Amino acid sequence: MPNATQMIRQDHKKVEGLFKKFEQTQGSQSKRRLAENAMAELEVHAALEEEIFYPAVKKEVDDGSSMVQEAIEEHQTVKQLISELKGMQEANEEFESQFSQLMENVQHHVEEEESEMLPKVEESQLDLNSLGQQMAQRKQQMQNRGRATKKASNAATSRKSATSKSSARKTARKKSAGSKTAARKTGSTKKNTGRKATKKSGSRSRRRA
Ligand SMILES: [Fe+2]
Repeated sequence: MPNATQMIRQDHKKVEGLFKKFEQTQGSQSKRRLAENAMAELEVHAALEEEIFYPAVKKEVDDGSSMVQEAIEEHQTVKQLISELKGMQEANEEFESQFSQLMENVQHHVEEEESEMLPKVEESQLDLNSLGQQMAQRKQQMQNRGRATKKASNAATSRKSATSKSSARKTARKKSAGSKTAARKTGSTKKNTGRKATKKSGSRSRRRA
């Protein structure tokens, strides 16, 4: 079983792999799927670091507090970007540019963690094996929960579509019976995905020392 820092590096590689695929993929639907996959990975990864890894680093590693403080601030930016991305209804250019911003922030965070924090942690007295074990357990737990939520939402979606199919059938029957009142206007309910997300971009590009 990988220890804590090996696990973190593996997670980083996985997310970077998804980023690469995102950049190489053409279709907007496939891009969106890849983006969602990467965001789910990032959420689990950030939670593991914040709940288990960072508190240990803060306590046991020289300079740990300031490194952790900075890392947590970077996580906040990443989480904010993820929540905005999740609110976007369509896989369009706006989504893609926002996701590119997320990729930049994550890459910066990964570089910093791998070049500063992880080497210091590896030289410290921290028990990386037991920390890795705790992280693996927690990860399993979160992934199981994530799968359960996905299952439930899929079930809800298919119930919804079954209901709308049956109401469509009813409408069709009504129509064929000669009732003109069944004809309904279907106004566009497309939501405005909000432009303000991209406006903030300037303040978010992180400085590099
Ligand atoms: Fe990380």
